[in-house]
Amino acid sequence: KNVAIIMGGYSSEYKISLTSGNVVYQNLNPSKYKGYRVHILKDKWVYVADDASEYPIDKSDFSVTVKGSKVIFDVVFNAIHGTPGEDGLLQAYFELLQLPQTSCDYYQAALTFNKRDTLSVLKPYGIKTATSHYLNLGDDIPVDTILEKVGLPCFVKPNKSGSSFGITKVHAKTDFLPAIETAFKEDNEVIIESFLDGIEVSVGVISYKGETKVLPITEIVSENDFFDYEAKYLGKSQEITPARLSKEVQEKVEAVAKKAYEVLKMKGFSRSEFILVNGEPHMLEMNTVPGLTNESILPQQAREAGISLAELFENAIEEVVQ
Ligand code: DAL
Ligand code: MG
Repeated sequence: KNVAIIMGGYSSEYKISLTSGNVVYQNLNPSKYKGYRVHILKDKWVYVADDASEYPIDKSDFSVTVKGSKVIFDVVFNAIHGTPGEDGLLQAYFELLQLPQTSCDYYQAALTFNKRDTLSVLKPYGIKTATSHYLNLGDDIPVDTILEKVGLPCFVKPNKSGSSFGITKVHAKTDFLPAIETAFKEDNEVIIESFLDGIEVSVGVISYKGETKVLPITEIVSENDFFDYEAKYLGKSQEITPARLSKEVQEKVEAVAKKAYEVLKMKGFSRSEFILVNGEPHMLEMNTVPGLTNESILPQQAREAGISLAELFENAIEEVVQ
């Protein structure tokens, strides 16, 4: 099968995505698949060959012509974090082209890329969240009212982004407006959340051999003030898999993560984040194109479950195209 591994994207996460995409490329079973690294960047969509030569993608059918012969892809492996790979844009495009791809469908991607809307869909199912306030760019910012509602410290986040870009943990009122300005650089919507004092855990849930499988839970111990970019990618955190939880709490987290996967009609990969406050999972967000770099959490969880990267990626492809 010809597999287009799409990587890059238009957001701040593009470099992480290139690393994720390359990990997929390096771990595809060569006896079954021919992988093509396809860079989807703001200024170009190209297939990048091993010798670094580039061939433009024909956007009318997502094919590429290499040295006179046209390559049609059987499946797209989505390794783009952020827009346009995690927010539904490319999912809709591939659906129109009837080209199978490994992540969830376009509406589910658009929904889950929006933290506010994801949490509001889950709330009626009893899934707990932080107290939050939401701003659109240009809205009045009633600082005192918001801080009365969420308290200090609080988190100011772009509503639609990843890898902690644009997120600030605000400790003092004077830092609040600058934090909002920082978040608005990443997105035109901002979500302000109360600080949840507890244990942070990350839960991978995947479609595996036709079933929904919860991977071993990871506990995150950040050396920084929170699990920020540096903690995520520059080693400033400890990620402990399996998390040190009692059986009862572990089962509760697994059940909530699975419920979220099902309610949000996820497909393929997902990784959701929770803070356990006295053992009660409070959900922060859902990621539908989780990082696949060697430092990333989902690959660690798969390894812990006895699933090699090659198997993980092969399964993701076989889930959508037999
Ligand atoms: N947004 C990053 C890539 C993640 O969720 O792993
Ligand atoms: Mg995220």
